[in-house]
Order: sequence, then structure tokens, then C-alpha cells
Amino acid sequence: MRVLGIAGSPRRRGNTDLLLAEVMRGAASQGAEVKTIVLSQLNIAPCQHCDGCLETGRCKVEDDMQMIYDELEQADRLVLASPVHFMGVTAQTKAMIDRCQALWVRKYRLKLPPLGNERERKGLFVSVGGMKIANLFQPALATVKSLFKVLDIAYAGELLFPGMDEKGAIKGHPDALKQAFITGQRLVEETLSE
Ligand SMILES: Cc1cc2nc3c(=O)[nH]c(=O)nc-3n(C[C@H](O)[C@H](O)[C@H](O)COP(=O)(O)O)c2cc1C
Repeated sequence: MRVLGIAGSPRRRGNTDLLLAEVMRGAASQGAEVKTIVLSQLNIAPCQHCDGCLETGRCKVEDDMQMIYDELEQADRLVLASPVHFMGVTAQTKAMIDRCQALWVRKYRLKLPPLGNERERKGLFVSVGGMKIANLFQPALATVKSLFKVLDIAYAGELLFPGMDEKGAIKGHPDALKQAFITGQRLVEETLSE
């Protein structure tokens, strides 16, 4: 069982990083092989809609996204973590998501498995926002769910914490980090018991 974590915040060791680390620790405690990719350390250009992927389902832009396509193909579970930036996912996360348009082409135009192989995949979304307002996470959730649908990743749940603005504020939450650890364990356990 391979669990891929994607850290979408540009703030290192911030709130989503802390939550993601606990999810991954929980998954590892159940024997999963875990790997976390930090988007802000990578070079991922936004999709230019060049249509270079239309015939092949392969993006022509040779940057760090090529490594992420490989990691996604190898993953059984995906944990996507991004704080809310202007009501959506971060720019780093959105650039990565938009580059999955090549995988949309594979699936809907070329009628191929979007991730090259068919296996049961599940994914979680982890997010925080500084404000406490209704529907804070709805735009980001819509984006993430649309990505998971395109990639044939079953949406397995979310960890969403509003009112977390300062770096490390999540550590003051009564049980957020514990919830994250348990969610990571369950992400792996559920499959073992199936
Ligand atoms: C560019 C930017 C935009 C933001 N936009 C929002 C927003 O629309 N709504 C909100 O609740 N918080 C917003 N925030 C606050 C962050 O979501 C908050 O500080 C969060 O804890 C950051 O998570 P991190 O520590 O994982 O980076 C924004 C922060 C930045 C830097």
C-alpha cells in the first residue's frame, strides 16, 4: 500500500503541513509505504492549454510535474493538503491540478485509464482556513472532488479546520492532530479489512 501526500501550502511547517504529517504518520503506523511531495519546492508551470496532450495524453512540458504523474500512478492512496487561499486551493496546488488535464485527455478522449493502470484508489482532502465563515471550503472541495473524479480516485473524506490563521495554530486545536493520525490509520486499515 503506497500513500502519496501532496503538500500544497507554500508555508513550510504550517497548519496543513502539520496535519498532513500526522495523516502520513498514521498511515505509516499501519505498514503503508508513505511519501510526501512538497509542491512549493518544485517547478510546476501552470497549464498553457497548448493541446500538446491531445493525441497522447502526455503533457509536453518537461518540469517536475512529470515526476508527479509517476508518483500518482504508483499511489494507492492520495492525501492532498492545501490551505484556503482566496477561497480556493493554493496556486501551487491549482497548477498541479490543472496539469492533470493531460490525464483528463487520457480518460475522456483516448478512453484509457487516467493513471495508466487500474487499481482501487482512494483520496483524502486536508485543509485549513483563517476565517470562520459558511462555505469556506466549498470552492476548494469542488476543485479537489473534480480532480479525484477525473483520476478515478474515490473520495474517502476530508479534514477541514476553519479559524486557523497563525502558523502552528492547529496545535492549539483540542484534537485536530489526533484526528489526522487516526484518519491516516483508517485510510490504510479500511483496505486491509476489505
Ligand atoms: C494568499 C493568501 C490567501 C488567503 N485566503 C484566505 C481565504 O480566502 N480564506 C481564509 O479563511 N483564509 C485565507 N488565508 C489564510 C490561510 O488559509 C491560513 O493562514 C492558513 O492557516 C494557512 O495554512 P498553512 O499554515 O498550512 O499555510 C489566506 C492566506 C494567504 C497567504
